[in-house]
Amino acid sequence: MDYTAKLDKALNDLHEEGRYRTFIDIERKNGQFPHATWCKPDGSEQPITVWCGNDYLGMGQNPVVLAAMHEAIEATGAGSGGTRNISGTTVYHKRLEAELADLHQKEEALVFTSAYIANDATLSTLPKLFPGLIIYSDELNHASMIEGVRRNGGAKRIFKHNDVADLRAKLEADDPDAPKLIAFESIYSMDGDFGPIKELCDLADEFGALTYIDEVHAVGMYGPRGAGVAERDGLMHRIDIINGTMAKAYGVMGGYIAASAKMCDAIRSYAPGFIFTTSLPPAIAAGAAASVAFLKTNPELREKHQEQAAILKLRLKGLGMPIIDHGSHIVPVIVGDPVHTKKLSDMMLESYGIYVQPINFPTVPRGTERLRFTPSPVHGPREMDALVSAMDALWSHCALNRAELAG
Ligand SMILES: Cc1ncc(COP(=O)(O)O)c(C=O)c1O
Repeated sequence: MDYTAKLDKALNDLHEEGRYRTFIDIERKNGQFPHATWCKPDGSEQPITVWCGNDYLGMGQNPVVLAAMHEAIEATGAGSGGTRNISGTTVYHKRLEAELADLHQKEEALVFTSAYIANDATLSTLPKLFPGLIIYSDELNHASMIEGVRRNGGAKRIFKHNDVADLRAKLEADDPDAPKLIAFESIYSMDGDFGPIKELCDLADEFGALTYIDEVHAVGMYGPRGAGVAERDGLMHRIDIINGTMAKAYGVMGGYIAASAKMCDAIRSYAPGFIFTTSLPPAIAAGAAASVAFLKTNPELREKHQEQAAILKLRLKGLGMPIIDHGSHIVPVIVGDPVHTKKLSDMMLESYGIYVQPINFPTVPRGTERLRFTPSPVHGPREMDALVSAMDALWSHCALNRAELAG
């Protein structure tokens, strides 16, 4: 077997389709977000502005978060030294879980090394706890949910994106006595659209199903205390399992679920992705807890974030850019072709020092390749002006359509 030839073929396929991923090496500057340095492959450097990060509120440089992390490192060292089961459960992990349970007004929370792992581990474990479980999963759910549902070996039904009627038809077609779970997101991160949380909870009540929500792109940013869209809409109590991340708006790392004490105890006890891996370093847990606590009582950053997103959308729309606007903080500009999207992203970076990663298939459907901007409270008027004029110039340079407004 010529293993190298197989690898060559796999990589060439990606190149040919224009979706070979190139990572941009950057060094973020503490205290100067969103400014960073691009460390180029030839060894030279260029100052850039990051416009595609998920540190949505700039909490990765918040002094309160950094102080908590420094303090924890000084007090307890670098790593946790073990899995949660074997010496890796520290006071920092317990404090973080208490903070998260309080955030979501649930009895308990369980911290994982990422929200990817939290989704995958939880969804792949649930059928062990509820034999015969049928999972109804939105077709645009994140890869981590898809993977968890795929791996669990149980029954699954994929319903059309945000389509309550399609979900109803699928629920009606199944055994009324079978255990069921409806899995969805509050904000779908590529289009920035919201899940119909209330309608899905109503269906869950009607059909006796559990509800599972991924609030990864909403925690910290929506709701009076930053618990997400379900909190904003007064629906948090209707969700059985809430999944979130500490890596985006909270600016640190790690994921979690918040649920009843029994649910958390069962997942803790049965999920390999929770049990058989080293727990987060205490300093990460300390920084995340400080960030969650900070954002519970500081809504100003959330308000500024929404304001910045609204301004950017308005300005890009004013130029006739084909943006998708569902009223969330995410600003996708559709290019519709992987090669053009990559080229635009390259030109933005090289000629204007603006970093926006191209988003291609399979992250988004073919033909909807895009640039996805993530404005934040740390993007000031100077950064916004630079971005808007660069987009205007490049759109003309590439003779791209100033399409009708979408969404
Ligand atoms: C919807 C959604 N869920 C889960 C995750 C995974 O989060 P984490 O980065 O904490 O693993 C992501 C990451 O991008 C996401 O977009």
